[in-house]
Amino acid sequence: MKDIVEQLEERRARARLGGGENRIEAQHAKGKLTARERIELLLDEDSFEEFDMFVAHRATEFGMQANRPPGDGVVTGWGTVNGRQVYVFSQDFTVLGGSVSETHGQKICKIMDMAMQNGAPVVGINDSGGARIQEGVDSLAAYGEVFQRNIEASGVVPQISMIMGPCAGGAVYSPAMTDFIFMVKDSSYMFVTGPDVVKTVTNEVVTAEELGGATTHTKKSSVADGAFENDVEALSEVRRLIDFLPLSNREKPPVRPFFDSPDRIEESLDTLIPANPNQPYDMKELITKIADEGDFYEIQAAFAGNIITGFIRLEGQTVGVVANQPMVLAGVLDIDSSRKAARFVRFCDCFEIPILSLVDVPGFLPGTAQEYNGVIKHGAKLLFAYGEATVPKVTVITRKAYGGAYDVMASKHLKSDVNYAWPTAEIAVMGAKGAVEIIHRKDLGDPEKIAAHTREYEDRFANPFVAAERGFIDEVIQPHSTRRRVCRAFAALRRKVQQRPWKKHDNIPL
Ligand code: HXC
Repeated sequence: MKDIVEQLEERRARARLGGGENRIEAQHAKGKLTARERIELLLDEDSFEEFDMFVAHRATEFGMQANRPPGDGVVTGWGTVNGRQVYVFSQDFTVLGGSVSETHGQKICKIMDMAMQNGAPVVGINDSGGARIQEGVDSLAAYGEVFQRNIEASGVVPQISMIMGPCAGGAVYSPAMTDFIFMVKDSSYMFVTGPDVVKTVTNEVVTAEELGGATTHTKKSSVADGAFENDVEALSEVRRLIDFLPLSNREKPPVRPFFDSPDRIEESLDTLIPANPNQPYDMKELITKIADEGDFYEIQAAFAGNIITGFIRLEGQTVGVVANQPMVLAGVLDIDSSRKAARFVRFCDCFEIPILSLVDVPGFLPGTAQEYNGVIKHGAKLLFAYGEATVPKVTVITRKAYGGAYDVMASKHLKSDVNYAWPTAEIAVMGAKGAVEIIHRKDLGDPEKIAAHTREYEDRFANPFVAAERGFIDEVIQPHSTRRRVCRAFAALRRKVQQRPWKKHDNIPL
């Protein structure tokens, strides 16, 4: 008996060694942690329950029967993050380059099935040379099975992808279908075709980092939601994100203890809006002054800065924030910002996370670049996402809410529940200058008349009261009391139920 127990420990030790000391050293030399070290950092201490440690591939071609490492290049199981259950797979680049075989894929599918059944998020740590070349179509089938589960799990459990090494070819499509993708600067990349193929086909010379590194995907393509300096930072930040999320669509987001009074008054907000309507101010200041303890977890911080998305807590409960940012492009809506915010709003709605919208939007960005690239369809994504969301929705208009963008930004007409405006709000079809130039075109040669018309328009429309008279704004609030008003609004909406007409699914303008 003792021998058998010892043998088990020996087998385990061999499996834990992955591809062996040399390959582990090579992994460290690249600034990367191993699959198991990453799991240790992601999960609470000693919480990891491993599955399938001894699974080995069944391939026989190319001499593969002589090389059957236990675990087959991926470590899978579950554990906890601050006491809450999470399923995890972590590809082991030291074993056959973390390549995906039939059995490697089966291990991933097993934990994804368990995650869906038991209602817990999946964190996938990607570090792989792609399809196991020696296995041919079996490997492609394995990817296909994972893809199908990504689709089925979407909206059922949160799915988070960490890209911590290579992720190329069709392999990118599994992370692409998950809710969030995080990358590590300088040691990870994602692309459909690599630099060599790009050179052959398009004659472009580009490095892997330029083509698909963390900077590219967080700033240019928006494929990734965040980039971190190293593995340690990436894993500790994903723990922070998980704390904001519900475990599945069957549960509400977690409620954390909070030490910040919901009645906290912020006098400084009374002077946040500059006297000059064309002068920007930092909307992040408002977000952090509303949030419990000023804690804000931003998503896609480096992309489409004209809209801000991320999570805060109010009275300990998670709230998704969407806010126009006057500091970037005057907070205008365009293709990128609409896409970014629409996806975020849909994530929140899937997982019952209430949405707070902070509005200061001068309209949609004009130009051929926008129209040729389909701003109509992309803008409609955000409109559609807000209108279909049935979670509690609270909106605060701080300054401009002009034209179609007024409607889009969680207006009352899109079934937003509580819509507040600051006294500085201007809710109108457009700004005074543009309006006067159109409706008083005949007076354009007379500056005095134009000035009088502009004053008249401003007096009539550059305020929140016309909308408030119609009930489109529920209340005009003092900026300093925004946290209290917003907290009370969400508190009143905790048992909200909103039905939608039956349908198989909607047809959001993709
Ligand atoms: C089998 C692989 C492998 C793979 C790497 N290895 N990729 N084995 N199948 N796809 C093995 C290597 O043979 C090597 O084994 C070990 O992993 C480490 O790889 P190195 O090349 O030494 O590492 P490095 O120099 O860091 O280069 C990493 C790499 C390179 C850029 C990822 O390995 C590479 O180009 N691999 C092939 C990538 C590829 O073409 N994959 C298929 C793409 S198609 P030894 O024993 O020598 O240490 C695809 C589509 C998915 O993935 C389709 C889904 C639908």
